[in-house]
Amino acid sequence: MSRIGILGAGAVGQLIAHQLAATGTLPFLLDRQLNAITEPYSLTDLSGNRSTLSFAKPGDNQALLGELKLLIVTVKAYQVVEAVTRVLPELSPRCHLLLLHNGLGPHEEVAALLDGRGLTLGTTSQGALRLGKHDLKQTGSGLTQFGHCMGPAMAPELKAMLLSAIPGSEWVEGILPALWQKLAVNACINPLTAIHGVCNGELADNAYQATIAAVLRELVQVAGTQGIELQEECLSARVYEVIRLTAANRSSMRQDVDHKRKTEIDAINGYLVSLGNRHGIATPTNKALVEAIHALERRF
Ligand code: PAF
Repeated sequence: MSRIGILGAGAVGQLIAHQLAATGTLPFLLDRQLNAITEPYSLTDLSGNRSTLSFAKPGDNQALLGELKLLIVTVKAYQVVEAVTRVLPELSPRCHLLLLHNGLGPHEEVAALLDGRGLTLGTTSQGALRLGKHDLKQTGSGLTQFGHCMGPAMAPELKAMLLSAIPGSEWVEGILPALWQKLAVNACINPLTAIHGVCNGELADNAYQATIAAVLRELVQVAGTQGIELQEECLSARVYEVIRLTAANRSSMRQDVDHKRKTEIDAINGYLVSLGNRHGIATPTNKALVEAIHALERRF
């Protein structure tokens, strides 16, 4: 077992575990309660090839956690702070953390807990669908970006390992602007697909144009309060490109609503609304989307 851990055994965690294993780094996969995943789990990749990974039951979870050099946290945005708080006492003071989730916000709280450890943030647009608990189908390729956030930088050999394992991944100097661009994609696609029960591609219809434009207009203003300069036209081009590239996908929020799971709306459009409130910027369109998703969640 390598010195790389993945905390969060959902679609993204399982996909990254497969991709690391395929390039010779078998990670230690844990659920957010810190239980090691030992059942075999399968991935059908984009070419239709199916592979199965299995792990020997680790003798001592605590010792393995203490030896990790890198912990990749792939739990949902609203689970990040609790999961990181639980795992930190088990990690060595030199273990580097990488947060990989939709939305923004949790890193602000995590930053205060790290006790000198380094933090990298990332985002991925790779699509994956869970067919069963440990049965995953990759549904789309897509850009994955990583970048330094705070504390000691990620060791070069860990960076190289991640970039060679994850297809379409890159290291960026300013990760926050990249995360805001991904936030723009998620703020448009995720709630609209979940509310209307449609696949991503259907958002190219004219009926959604005005809402997408209003979401982006509000986002650009809110981002400005954080020193992040974004252009509405560039974001719009990016959103429509993702809509086209992932046309057949069911967005993660639509999947959450379909399975009656809590969504990441509070870290996506909800993050924009709360920053807007803090800085006196009106965000009525994002607020309406948050309320519509909360109304769906109350029915679960
Ligand atoms: O959350 C998602 O579903 C994905 O981030 C994206 C890029 C919107 C594609 O479905």
